[in-house]
Amino acid sequence: MNNYGILAVVAIAIIATAACVHVVENHSDDAEPERIGIIGATSEEVTLLLDAMHIDYKETVADTMFYVGTMGECDVTIVQSGMGKVNAGICAQLLITEFNAKAVINTGVAGSLDNALDIEDFVVSVDAVQHDFDASPIGYAKGEIPFTGKYSFEADEGLRAKTVDAITKVCPDVSVYEGRICSGDQFISSSEQKDAITSQFGGLCCEMEGAAMAQVCYLNDVPFVIIRAISDKADGSAHEDYPTFVEKASKRSAAALIYMLENWDQ
Ligand code: ADE
Repeated sequence: MNNYGILAVVAIAIIATAACVHVVENHSDDAEPERIGIIGATSEEVTLLLDAMHIDYKETVADTMFYVGTMGECDVTIVQSGMGKVNAGICAQLLITEFNAKAVINTGVAGSLDNALDIEDFVVSVDAVQHDFDASPIGYAKGEIPFTGKYSFEADEGLRAKTVDAITKVCPDVSVYEGRICSGDQFISSSEQKDAITSQFGGLCCEMEGAAMAQVCYLNDVPFVIIRAISDKADGSAHEDYPTFVEKASKRSAAALIYMLENWDQ
């Protein structure tokens, strides 16, 4: 074979290799199924879920690990977002655009805003508001997100029903409440803070992520639900109750969600 022949063979080999790489990349995109995206803020809230899933692969985006796989027959992506609304918002958007989430679920613990709720009881979201969002000096209602006309974001009714059903089956010894969840970038640990939230927004419990995820889901037209088990009463005892009960409450929330995912089509 002369020099031209060798050059031609090398060129064909290079083109073929490039084509293979391209096909492999496209293939993984094309095969991506619709998934349920799951967000928990802390390791307590996520570890049991990861233990219960079959992990196909992990991917780090925005310095955050996404676990992609299955739970029962369900295709899922689970992420530990970290605490707070920005983290939850980033993770919700990535679940939707990078991991093909057709629904997003936020699981974890919360402080109760209503004295009827005991530690380890559940709240399932009817809607979610951002209690720390305040553009009232320029004419918006407290909690209203300017230019959206929205003050609260409504959870999906079908997901709510599935969630309540799972909780009553898995945790029959505690009560399940359906209502408003108030989110903000604050750990609520005084009666004054708690009263300020309830007098403005009502609400059954407070946490730090759900309404941010809810806003992202609303903007993407993706259904969501928030599941929270009570770890503390968001008052002067919260800083002691939270570390005492976070693990127990997280276990309950995770157990209900695992049951729900494993029995998704029933
Ligand atoms: N998550 C659990 N308890 C909380 C509280 N008291 N405030 C905010 N988020 C919480």
